Amino acid sequence: MSEEISSNPPPAPHKRRVRYSGRNPRRFEEKYKEHGSDDATIAKVLASGKTPAGTHRPIMVAEILEVLAPKPGDIAADCTLGYGGHAQEILKRISPGGKLFGLDQDPIELLKTEARLRALGFDEIVFIAHRSNFAGLPQVLAAQNISGVDLILADLGVSSMQIDDPARGFSVKFSGPLDMRMNPQRGQPASAFLEKIKAAPLAELLAENSDEPNATTLAAALAEKKFTTTNELANAIKNVLPHLGKDDLTLTVRRVFQALRIAVNDEFSALETFLRNLPSCLNPGGRVAILTFHSGEDRRVKKAFADGQRNGIYSEIAHEVIRPTPEERNANPRSAPAKLRWAKRGN
Ligand SMILES: C[S@@+](CC[C@H](N)C(=O)[O-])C[C@H]1O[C@@H](n2cnc3c(N)ncnc32)[C@H](O)[C@@H]1O
Repeated sequence: MSEEISSNPPPAPHKRRVRYSGRNPRRFEEKYKEHGSDDATIAKVLASGKTPAGTHRPIMVAEILEVLAPKPGDIAADCTLGYGGHAQEILKRISPGGKLFGLDQDPIELLKTEARLRALGFDEIVFIAHRSNFAGLPQVLAAQNISGVDLILADLGVSSMQIDDPARGFSVKFSGPLDMRMNPQRGQPASAFLEKIKAAPLAELLAENSDEPNATTLAAALAEKKFTTTNELANAIKNVLPHLGKDDLTLTVRRVFQALRIAVNDEFSALETFLRNLPSCLNPGGRVAILTFHSGEDRRVKKAFADGQRNGIYSEIAHEVIRPTPEERNANPRSAPAKLRWAKRGN
């Protein structure tokens, strides 16, 4: 009896989809219809004001396009590429002849976004993806022999893909490892950070990064403690302030998570370096737009633009902050805290 050798590989064992209880999936990994681009499911999720799992809805796109005014041939830098929603719109407008550098410090999402934009037809000539902190923008441009760009965008903070995936450790809703690093290959996770920090600097950090009114009490209870998961930390925060109502407790958990995320990713020093470097990265007449999501970010951007105008670097700046329309806030509640500021380099 001879053994039959087939060139076809054996069929892959059937893998069952994650089952969920109830009518709708709740957990990130159960939302396979959204991950798998099921158009009807995605339309339903969007209509309910939510963000489909594994995606990000770009905020204030029309307003950003108006202030940046991209045109064919422009060289652009999107310093927070994320899902590529803004980048995609800019890319359409700078073609033909333009080029966009897309920076992001997240090595996990960057690869997916690069593939998505390539699939939309943006090749290596028009779109260059770069895993980098935006504090290193001058070095990224120098390595590409670019002396300056015509437009720069930064949409600060974290993306929906990062917040919604419990494995990344940002989620207050679903438990995951207490990590919070946008680049998990650098620095230390939030769990290690909390285990080492003393109460006094933690209280300072909660006040500075999130304007936390109960900073001292929370810091005394959380400093130098070991929390392995996001749920453990969220429960500990709630136990420290049992007199607060449910809504205040939810806001407190969010503020503590935000403060830790800012610290773990060293967000303010990256932003300050970026703001200092901006003028040298912009061509004469070039424009920059920055979307911020809390007062610590907006304060820094506002001051840098005002100082730049006083010193004659910027010829024009936004005097009034631009906010999302009520329609956008309604359709995408995650846009609600956004503030847009812009500046134009003098000729
Ligand atoms: C709000 S999302 C951007 C969403 C994007 N505009 C879009 O349309 O999909 C922010 C992104 O910036 C990245 N990011 C935050 N701080 C950064 C930094 N200092 N350097 C580089 N990337 C950063 C995050 O990893 C995240 O992907």
